[in-house]
Amino acid sequence: MNRIRQVDPLTDSLTVEAGVLLQDVQAAAQQVDRLFPLSLGAEGSCTIGGNISTNAGGNAVLRYGNTRDLVLGLEVVLPSGEIWHGLRALRKDNAGYDLKHLFIGSEGTLGIVTAATLKLFPPLRQVDTALLALPSHTAALSLLKTLQTQENLPLTAFELMSAESISLVREQFPQRVFPLDDKFKVYVLIEAGWSSRPREDVFEQALERIWEVCDVQDGAVAKSDAHAASLWEWRELITEAQLRAGPHLKHDISLPASCIPEFIEQTDAGLYSRFPGLRVINFGHLGDGNLHYNISVESVISEMDLQAMQIEIESFIYSQVCEVNGSFSAEHGIGQTKTQHLRHYRSATELGLMALLKRSLDPEVLFNPGKVVIEHVGSVELI
Ligand code: LAC
Ligand code: ZN
Repeated sequence: MNRIRQVDPLTDSLTVEAGVLLQDVQAAAQQVDRLFPLSLGAEGSCTIGGNISTNAGGNAVLRYGNTRDLVLGLEVVLPSGEIWHGLRALRKDNAGYDLKHLFIGSEGTLGIVTAATLKLFPPLRQVDTALLALPSHTAALSLLKTLQTQENLPLTAFELMSAESISLVREQFPQRVFPLDDKFKVYVLIEAGWSSRPREDVFEQALERIWEVCDVQDGAVAKSDAHAASLWEWRELITEAQLRAGPHLKHDISLPASCIPEFIEQTDAGLYSRFPGLRVINFGHLGDGNLHYNISVESVISEMDLQAMQIEIESFIYSQVCEVNGSFSAEHGIGQTKTQHLRHYRSATELGLMALLKRSLDPEVLFNPGKVVIEHVGSVELI
């Protein structure tokens, strides 16, 4: 299932089978002078079927939305053995329930996606990137809002890296030279993309205009594609640095933007006071309110010590998330490791509806058992 079935630049759509690599979907769009905007670190190895079944987010959600927003139609094998032929390339289709959304993000538990018709966009003729330093998360949020209201500044990404995340990358990759002073509290990587080429300096001028108003304290604007890629590496290497540094915990949380500065301040303080030896490695898609609020540890704490603290750490973080009506899973889904959290943090009404859907579509529990909802044949149960 790795064929590109159709590319239709007039409809701005393309139809691909589920096993096509994300990178190859992007390349097929590019060949007809279009953009398929889903973009994430794993794009060279992940398949579009996986992206759809997990409703992947990534680095350009701010401008183009999640995978869910990029799908026009699906072809799905149902647990009954029927095939749903829903590969329609329509922008408007209110003929009954919008069935495709049942299968996007349900992690293969309701049906198996075999092909998809996806949205294409105008290509970006110019992309500008900058790494900026700020004194606080409040300043970072106000920078985001100010940039979003600037005329002619089409933001595609607004990524956060805490000072501790940068320190960890520096420790693990000591040969790399960080381009800014490392004394600041918060770093953001911003990217803007134009589909018609603007005057060359429009990005820098916009930054100059807001520099002081937004309390930007240091910055580097990419002078070439290679320079931009090297700035992005500081963001992309955080996960690898955590892996190299030893035991760690990952949290993929979603918060209302207005609550983020206070959430970080209070949750950081709570963790540091309760669990000496932890390091909060907070980074992620600030523009979408999605933080990868991860934990690494000082060398005095072993894997076993961390495992013993895991439940307490998670409960503390997720209870803070609940207080602001956030989510414990922003873009990484449930799989089998977060089924307990789903049961704990979703309401009885929500869990009841999920079980009803699963039971109706897959009564024999044939599809991806053990994921999202845990089922027993005959009586689907969320556990
Ligand atoms: C990222 C992955 C962890 O944003 O979602 O780097
Ligand atoms: Zn992410």
